[in-house]
Amino acid sequence: MAPVVWQNVAMDSKHLLVVFHSQSGSTTRMAEAVIRGAQSPDIQGVEVRAKSALEATGEDLLWSDAFIIGTPENFGYMSGAVKYFLDRSYYDCEGKMAGKSFALFIKAGNDGSGAISSIRRILNGLAVKEVQQPLLMVGDFDESRLDECEELGLTLAAGLEAGIY
Ligand SMILES: Cc1cc2nc3c(=O)[nH]c(=O)nc-3n(C[C@H](O)[C@H](O)[C@H](O)COP(=O)(O)O)c2cc1C
Repeated sequence: MAPVVWQNVAMDSKHLLVVFHSQSGSTTRMAEAVIRGAQSPDIQGVEVRAKSALEATGEDLLWSDAFIIGTPENFGYMSGAVKYFLDRSYYDCEGKMAGKSFALFIKAGNDGSGAISSIRRILNGLAVKEVQQPLLMVGDFDESRLDECEELGLTLAAGLEAGIY
């Protein structure tokens, strides 16, 4: 008789999605740090999926137990690519996302509030819950704040691991 092998993998793993867009690279650098934190070797049982906002779909959001969205602020709003992602995903996800956790990170030249409020307004319709303050970097790129980005990813992943999110 074949031996019974217990595999403590994938089946009950939690899913964390990171979706972002960047025109000139700053938000990508933040995203890389967020993803690094989310993939910390200290975290067990959390699968991380990172996608460009131009490629991510509603299926990715449905797959996720929690998600993080990163965008620059453009013209007082989220980037067009992130809006396009939410436009494409919204109706696939409506009524199926309630209670899932999310967080935002934003890169802006001098403000950022329009990007935050515009994303929140749309996500409000999905009944998801924001579990961290948005991480907002304004002005010149500040390398020293990458630790906070990493911590954001780690916090969401740790919350999933602990069953809090
Ligand atoms: C077309 C355009 C519009 C922008 N509009 C805003 C804005 O409304 N508010 C703001 O704070 N910064 C604005 N910025 C500045 C960007 O948010 C900032 O340069 C950011 O770092 C870009 O991020 P990225 O390198 O990830 O593309 C704008 C930049 C561009 C190119």
